[in-house]
Amino acid sequence: MDFERKVEWVGETSRFSGLSVQIRNAGIFVVSRCYAFAEFTIESRLPFYWETTLPVLEIHNLRKSYNGVKAVDGIGFSIEAGEVFGLLGPNGAGKSTTIDIIATILQPDDGEVRIRGSITSRSTEYKYRIGYVPQEISLNEQLTAAENLAFVGRLYDIPADELRRRVPETLESVGLADRSREPVHQFSGGMKRRLNIACAMVHRPDVVLMDEPTVGVDPHARAYIFEIVERLASQGKAILYTTHYMEEAERLCQRTAIIDRGKIVAVGTLSELIALIKAKREIVIEADALSSESVERLSAKLGRVTWAMEDHRVRLSIADGRIGMVDVINTAHEMGIRVRNAAMNEPDLETVFLELTGHALRD
Ligand SMILES: Nc1ncnc2c1ncn2[C@@H]1O[C@H](COP(=O)(O)OP(=O)(O)O)[C@@H](O)[C@H]1O
Ligand SMILES: [Mg+2]
Repeated sequence: MDFERKVEWVGETSRFSGLSVQIRNAGIFVVSRCYAFAEFTIESRLPFYWETTLPVLEIHNLRKSYNGVKAVDGIGFSIEAGEVFGLLGPNGAGKSTTIDIIATILQPDDGEVRIRGSITSRSTEYKYRIGYVPQEISLNEQLTAAENLAFVGRLYDIPADELRRRVPETLESVGLADRSREPVHQFSGGMKRRLNIACAMVHRPDVVLMDEPTVGVDPHARAYIFEIVERLASQGKAILYTTHYMEEAERLCQRTAIIDRGKIVAVGTLSELIALIKAKREIVIEADALSSESVERLSAKLGRVTWAMEDHRVRLSIADGRIGMVDVINTAHEMGIRVRNAAMNEPDLETVFLELTGHALRD
């Protein structure tokens, strides 16, 4: 049997009619999706054993150079269903190039992208599984919100009657239901960003690629976008979220890959990433009559501490996780240093980035 042709034929039917059969190299299974009768089947994929054991998105060794400059230099990771995976790095790190390759807008020089193990970016089904929110807002300003969505829906061959249901539903999900008939040029920046996200959702993809979706929006609109991202993840979508704001990666992403100069320098949960670095915490003390000699003696006594003087303050970077604020203040007092003020900074992704790359996340 010609598996590839069967999968494609079935992929088409599954999207728009009732019953679908999908055939994989691994075996045969039946997916019943009755759009007309059961609402829940639209949003959530059924938990088939062999599908859920595979990552939704797998990236292997992506490479892309521009005139000898390695924009993406061997990037690889995978994302599970329901996971928000962050790609955190400064401008020029290679985030958009990576995401554009996954979205098949760019051809890689090398490497491969797979969905659910068997769907490669060359297959017809791939484009139906991926939703792409580009960094630059990509809307027709003269059309209304609903017309923009309908336009995108037609690109995905969604039949007109299905589209009539999906457009208001999708607008509702990004809080724009009451603005559906307004032309986009009347929208605020935040509303355009939300519509930009809706355009990637109208064909109900499994994977959502979001390239810096909060750039240029106010804090209120940003919080709204966070809500949308979290809701998509709770529906089981696999989300790739790029950002140069460490607060966003910390707040939204279950795992984050730190990317710099086209390479992933570290990947993990927030606590895994923080565990990678030496500086467990930073304690800043203010004291009278601080001298380099007294600080040197203090740090030697504490052990595994580096320091930097700033006027009457000293910044202690502490590598030993057991040394806390009380130890520093007590030791200083024993040595006759009168501490007037003290503050502790726990490490964050900014610290991790700085220590792993030798430069700051933002210039
Ligand atoms: N079309 C292009 N032509 C030449 N260089 C490019 C092009 N697109 C990106 N680059 C370069 O590739 C690197 C990565 O860019 P990009 O992926 O846009 O980074 P990011 O999205 O992290 O800011 C940068 O050095 C950028 O200047
Ligand atoms: Mg970019």
